[in-house]
Amino acid sequence: MSASTPARRLWIETVGCQMNVLDSELVVAALRREGWTLADDPAGADAVFYNTCSVRQHAEDKIWSALGRVRLEKQKRPGMIVGVLGCMAQKDQETVRERAPWVDLVVGPGQLHRVPRIVEEILAGGPPRIEVSLDRTAGSRDAVTRSFESYDPDRDPAMRPTPFQAFVRTQTGCDKFCAFCVVPRVRGPEQARPPAAILAEARKLVAEGCREITLIGQTVNSYRWVDGGRTTRLADLLHDLDAIDGLDRIRFVTNYPRDMTPELIGAVRDLGKVCQYLHVPAQHGSDAVLQRMKRGYTIGEYLEMHARVREEVPRASVTSDFIVGFCGETDAEFAATLDLVERLRFKNSFIFKYSPRPGTKAFERQPDDVPEEVKKERHRILLDAQTAASLAGNIPFVGSRQRVLVEGLSTRDEKRGLDPGPDDTAQLTGRTGCDRIVVFDAPARLVGRIVEVDIEAAGPWSLSGTVADGLGDAVPIPGLAAAFGGAASAEGPPTLHAIAPPPPRRTAGAEARDA
Ligand code: SAH
Ligand code: F3S
Repeated sequence: MSASTPARRLWIETVGCQMNVLDSELVVAALRREGWTLADDPAGADAVFYNTCSVRQHAEDKIWSALGRVRLEKQKRPGMIVGVLGCMAQKDQETVRERAPWVDLVVGPGQLHRVPRIVEEILAGGPPRIEVSLDRTAGSRDAVTRSFESYDPDRDPAMRPTPFQAFVRTQTGCDKFCAFCVVPRVRGPEQARPPAAILAEARKLVAEGCREITLIGQTVNSYRWVDGGRTTRLADLLHDLDAIDGLDRIRFVTNYPRDMTPELIGAVRDLGKVCQYLHVPAQHGSDAVLQRMKRGYTIGEYLEMHARVREEVPRASVTSDFIVGFCGETDAEFAATLDLVERLRFKNSFIFKYSPRPGTKAFERQPDDVPEEVKKERHRILLDAQTAASLAGNIPFVGSRQRVLVEGLSTRDEKRGLDPGPDDTAQLTGRTGCDRIVVFDAPARLVGRIVEVDIEAAGPWSLSGTVADGLGDAVPIPGLAAAFGGAASAEGPPTLHAIAPPPPRRTAGAEARDA
């Protein structure tokens, strides 16, 4: 783009998991380097992208509605580019073109690095484009793997959840093939990134002002990189990351119960920067259902893993995902899930109603025979049980002092549209290392810092209190002002344009994350 051309404007809406949040960040970074800027709304954008999720039908329905709305905009401005990116692009490439022929590009999660080039070609008058990976059933594992290229060269700080927190991908794809889950099909085979690339990215992020890094992988604790005779696992990565100066916190999601090795639990116990927070979805409480789900473990094994965590890291908070109303789920089987939630008292659980996904084993072989009303009722019952467990788990924090990384304005003050100066007091929110949300009144300049908060009250989804010494560590974050063009502490977190609920790590409690 020449210096005289006005910058083109991009609008991107992101649905789904942390992987998608990161993917959007990378797409935006790549386009910004080509001179694009972010638009304030779709109506003012030269390109509108939807980064999509296929995990549940509900998430897809949202995109179909959004595509219907953007069609009107495109009728007014035919030059505008409309793109469908991510999991739906991979899974429903043809359907998107048929049902929404006004879409110009359909790009799967394994091809996102090609977006800038495709956009340029379309702007130059080229035809609409579909770029996706080979289907997993299409050929040798090698060929399929090569067709899913991992893409993490660029970062755009302005698209991060906050300037001082970042996701770093350890691997893409998944090889577990749970019977209900479409992820292995749309995200492709599991491919680890080299440890050196992960560490280099982490160091770069820390130099830019990141204090907290969340490693992400569909099954992050299955991470394995073999180089010559040396195998690197997640525990080894954590040791290396822990040694990075300037990094305060390391998190990792999502864990697969069977890969919770003693070395990994030991790393969580021993490494000061590694947060004592483990998201290890159980999915169900009944062996028969776990078997139908092809989860690869029994409840006995899950309990044994949980007991090891409790013994080695007694303060760790453990969280889970559950599916209610999976194919053939009886009252007694559901009662086993309820029992598990009551026994293990997860810090919180994401609870989903089963949504049949074409292309999965469950869809092909097991009827979706639990009526919607029953799914709803079980969802409500389990959510109530988890809410009670979450409250019981939070109450002991009252009277304690917690280290909190301040993330920004509380939801209340954000909704009120507050825009405080650095010294103005606002209601702020942050998280403990064990992932509990803490709300407190303090000067806005504390955003991005770690403060000590005396906890005075507890609810199921959050704690509240008072900053202990009024200032916390009060250490400015190196490089942050430069990265964000000003005093970052006064800016609050940039907002990610999302039509879905925010990514799970930024939501509270035992939610009905029913996207
Ligand atoms: N390992 C991934 C899992 C992705 S899906 C991760 O990073 O979290 C997230 C959660 O969605 C799963 O743990 C499961 O509880 C739920 N889920 C997956 N497929 C589903 C389906 N077909 N219906 C309802 N919930 C589903
Ligand atoms: Fe999905 Fe199971 Fe992998 S839930 S992402 S297939 S571990």
